[in-house]
Amino acid sequence: MKKIIIIDGGPRKNFNTASMLQKVGEGASSVSNEIEIKLVRLYELDYKGCMSCMACKIKGKASNICKFKDALTPLLEEIAQADGLVLGSPIYFGDVTGQMRTFLERLAFPWLSYNDYSMTAPKRMPVILVETMNGTPEMNNSQGYGSMEPCIKAALGEPEHLIAYNTYQVKNYDRYELAGFSEKAKRMYRDEFWEGYLQKAFDAGKHMAESILK
Ligand SMILES: Cc1cc2nc3c(=O)[nH]c(=O)nc-3n(C[C@H](O)[C@H](O)[C@H](O)COP(=O)(O)O)c2cc1C
Repeated sequence: MKKIIIIDGGPRKNFNTASMLQKVGEGASSVSNEIEIKLVRLYELDYKGCMSCMACKIKGKASNICKFKDALTPLLEEIAQADGLVLGSPIYFGDVTGQMRTFLERLAFPWLSYNDYSMTAPKRMPVILVETMNGTPEMNNSQGYGSMEPCIKAALGEPEHLIAYNTYQVKNYDRYELAGFSEKAKRMYRDEFWEGYLQKAFDAGKHMAESILK
């Protein structure tokens, strides 16, 4: 059995990011029942970012898995053994959510060697990075996974990107103070592109599973 871990770094269980991640999972599952999908919602876990305890860098006992114990510990240990990793986040103020960033600190700091500045994960694996946002391909403020992306690339491998632009942020635009957005333009964009974004997510999950089983 091979395992793909999908990490949802957004708070909403049934909106854009969750839907994209669900499709990645469906695509991967469609390939074979030899693929196990594990979905983790970071907002349901109580955890801290890197505590700078330096336990991962103690001489003779260095570890590329975080040694700090909290609700993230079992997940970090599971990722070390996984065969594929999918990360998803809405874009908040140009970045991934605080929860995603906090999680990534704990994942990546133990990979980093302060002896030679190399980044070494316990195991390399295919990675998909998902972002959803209000911005459009032409105009957006997203820095995506930002400074964490080179760490992911060095330690796990070149990530594949899936971006859903100009998402529908609420179910009913009339209910909220959202005059800066044209509901009609949002709806037209969604009608034209949303299914395509979901299809890309499905296909990416499928390709990930195929590459794992190859
Ligand atoms: C606190 C907050 C900050 C946001 N900041 C941005 C932003 O900087 N750029 C952007 O394009 N969208 C921004 N958005 C919109 C979300 O990224 C977008 O609606 C996303 O698809 C929401 O994902 P979800 O439906 O999975 O919750 C923001 C939304 C919230 C709630």
